[in-house]
Amino acid sequence: PPLAGSEGPLAGKHVLVTAGPTHEPIDPVRVLANRSSGKQGFAIAAAAARAGARVTLVAGPVSLPTPFGVTRVDVMTAVQMRDAVIAALPADIAFMVAAVADWRVAASASKLKKGDGPPELQFEANPDILRELGERPDRPGLLIGFAAETDDVIANATAKLERKKADWIVANDVSGDVMGSDHNRVHIVTRDGVTDMGAMTKAQVAQMLIDRIS
Ligand code: CTP
Ligand code: CA
Repeated sequence: PPLAGSEGPLAGKHVLVTAGPTHEPIDPVRVLANRSSGKQGFAIAAAAARAGARVTLVAGPVSLPTPFGVTRVDVMTAVQMRDAVIAALPADIAFMVAAVADWRVAASASKLKKGDGPPELQFEANPDILRELGERPDRPGLLIGFAAETDDVIANATAKLERKKADWIVANDVSGDVMGSDHNRVHIVTRDGVTDMGAMTKAQVAQMLIDRIS
């Protein structure tokens, strides 16, 4: 394969990718998490590197090998992910693929004991990383969000496109068995309309997205 960053349609471009879930601690042994294997984001990072980009992959806790030629930054929480994303700027293209926990809780320093009964968790909103990027003066030139939806997929994705000032939202219907699987069915939602990409593997979705931006 070409040396990452030297040749290919994305040579000279910096591609920033978030992937995986975030884990928000409840106490030293328990977390609040989102379901995400990280497979789709890692496949995009790999495809971007193959296309010659310099790639920064900010990864939540996942069990996946680092793709060839990719610089990986491991984080646990949404706040850490936001800080790592901001530290990686500027970027030409950003893919926000992570399933970020929308809330964190005030973590207990000592382990909660079952015998004390179900805890009362105090939820607090996490930063919205995609929305923060969309509002920055040094916003990536192409900002791509993902939307995993179970209902009203296109309407919800279109609302997210506007709310987060993204250029594309890659929408997928997760009412089936997408989470953790190797398959995905996505629609690309932009201000020019909606394109149904049909059923593909996550590797094919990654290559299709890189081909379109190339
Ligand atoms: N996202 C993010 N930071 C968050 C939440 C979401 O960067 N705190 C990004 C995701 O990586 C994804 C997009 O925003 O690219 C949409 O995430 P989603 O969870 O579908 O959107 P929300 O605005 O959190 O809406 P909801 O969960 O209520 O559907
Ligand atoms: Ca969310």
